[in-house]
Amino acid sequence: MSSSSDRSRILVVGATGVVGEEMLDVLARRGHAIRPIHAFASAGSAGKTVRCGDRELAVEELGESVFRPGDIALFGVDAELARRVAPRAVAAGARVVDNSSAFRLDPAVPLVIPEVNPDDLRGPPAPALLANPNCSTIMLLVALEPLRRAFGIEHVHVATYQAVSGAGRAAMDELRDQTRAVLDGKDLEPRAFPTPCAFNVFPHESAVDPLTGANVEEQKVVAETRRIWHQPDAAIDPTCVRVPVLRAHSQAVTATLGRSASLGEIRDRLAAGAGIRVLDDRIAAGWPTPHRASRQDAVLIGRIRWAMSELDRPEAVRRRVALWLSADQILKGAALNAVQLAESAGPRVLETQRAQSAGWADWARVENGPGTDLLSPYDYHRPRLLDCCVRDGNRYFQTGMGTGKRLHRALELIRSAVRRGV
Ligand SMILES: NC(=O)c1ccc[n+]([C@@H]2O[C@H](COP(=O)([O-])OP(=O)(O)OC[C@H]3O[C@@H](n4cnc5c(N)ncnc54)[C@H](OP(=O)(O)O)[C@@H]3O)[C@@H](O)[C@H]2O)c1
Repeated sequence: MSSSSDRSRILVVGATGVVGEEMLDVLARRGHAIRPIHAFASAGSAGKTVRCGDRELAVEELGESVFRPGDIALFGVDAELARRVAPRAVAAGARVVDNSSAFRLDPAVPLVIPEVNPDDLRGPPAPALLANPNCSTIMLLVALEPLRRAFGIEHVHVATYQAVSGAGRAAMDELRDQTRAVLDGKDLEPRAFPTPCAFNVFPHESAVDPLTGANVEEQKVVAETRRIWHQPDAAIDPTCVRVPVLRAHSQAVTATLGRSASLGEIRDRLAAGAGIRVLDDRIAAGWPTPHRASRQDAVLIGRIRWAMSELDRPEAVRRRVALWLSADQILKGAALNAVQLAESAGPRVLETQRAQSAGWADWARVENGPGTDLLSPYDYHRPRLLDCCVRDGNRYFQTGMGTGKRLHRALELIRSAVRRGV
C-alpha cells in the first residue's frame, strides 16, 4: 500500500469470515477502497457478496493461481490453509499478512504490533510475509507498552475473558442458537466448542499440554510476548477463559513494574499510550466492557489501581499495578492490526489522501511540502503525538505526523483547527 498511483490489488482471503469481513470494513474506513479489492473464500461461498464500504464485492473461490506480483493479500483463514496457501502467494510475488498462528513463531516472519515493536518491520527488503499476533497477545501488549517503556515490566499475570467470536462465525452462531435453545428449555449439542457456551464460562477450548497443564492459547500468549518483546525470559502467567460474550475480549491484568512509580504517573503514561483509551471513573463506575469496546479501534483500560497486597506497603516502593482491559479482538486483535501491517510497507500518499478527504488541507500541505517526507506507521506510536490525538478526539490525529519541528508544526495545526472547530 505504497501510494495513490499504486494500483496493487488487495486480496482478502477468507472474506466471508469474522476477520475477513472486518478487514474489508477497515480497508474501506482507512481509504483503501479506491484500490481494486478482491474477496476470496471457499467454493461454497463463491457467488455470495460481501461489502467493502459502499462497494459490493462478489466472492470468488480461492483457486491455485489467484495471486499476482504486487498483490497485497490479507489472510483470514485457519492456520492449516494459511500454511498451504501463503507460501504460494509469496512465491507469486504477493505480500501477505496472515492472521492465523501458522507463522507467528517462525523467526523469518516478523510478528508485529505497530504500537509495540514497529522496528521489527524495518527492511530492506520489505518482508513478503508478516504475521499478526494472537488477539489476546495484541490487546495485552498494547495496554502494557507505555508501562514497559517507562518503568520496565518484571512480571505479568493475566486472566482473559474471551468472546466466542474469537473462534469464528460458527461459534457466534452457536452462542446465539444455544442461548435461544436454553431460554426455550431445550438442549443443544455443542459443535463449535466442546462445552456449552450459553450461560457458561469455561477454560479456553484449545488443547491442553498434559505435562504443564497450559492450554495452547496460554502458550501462544507467552511465546508471542517473548518474541515481540525480544525477551525470551519474559515472565507471563496467563489463564485463558471463554465467556458467553459475542464480541470483544476482556482481561484482568496484574503487572509488576521494573521500578516503583506513582499511580498518577502510571495513569498518565497509559493515557498517553498509542492505541489506548483510558476509561477509569471510580465514582460513576465508568469501566471498559465488551459492549463499550465493540467496534472501537482502541484498547480500553480502566480500574487502574494498586494490587491490593501492595496497599500495606509505602507508595514509594509499590510496583504491582492492576488493570482491567476490554478490546475488540476482531478489530485491533486481528483486522485492524493486519491492515496497519499492510500499510507499513509505505502508506505515505495514502495518509495524505486521508488527511485531504477528512478536510485537513493544512495537514496535507505540511506533509506534502518540499523536503518533508511523510511518515510511515513506524511513527504512529509516538506517545506525545497520540496524547494530543486522543484528547482532541479526532481519529485522523492518530496517524501520520512527525517528530521534532514537524511534530510541533503539526500540533500547532491541530490546535488551531480544533479552535476553529474543524
Ligand atoms: N475471530 C477472531 O477474533 C480472530 C482473532 C485473531 C485471529 N483470528 C484468526 O483469523 C483466522 C480467521 O478467523 P475467523 O474467526 O475469521 O474464522 P471464520 O469466521 O471461521 O472464517 C473463516 C474463513 O475462511 C474461509 N475458508 C475456509 N475454508 C476455505 C477454503 N478451503 N478456501 C478458502 N477460504 C476458506 C471461510 O470461507 P467460507 O465462508 O466459504 O467457509 C471464511 O471466510 C483464523 O486463523 C483465526 O485463528 C481470529
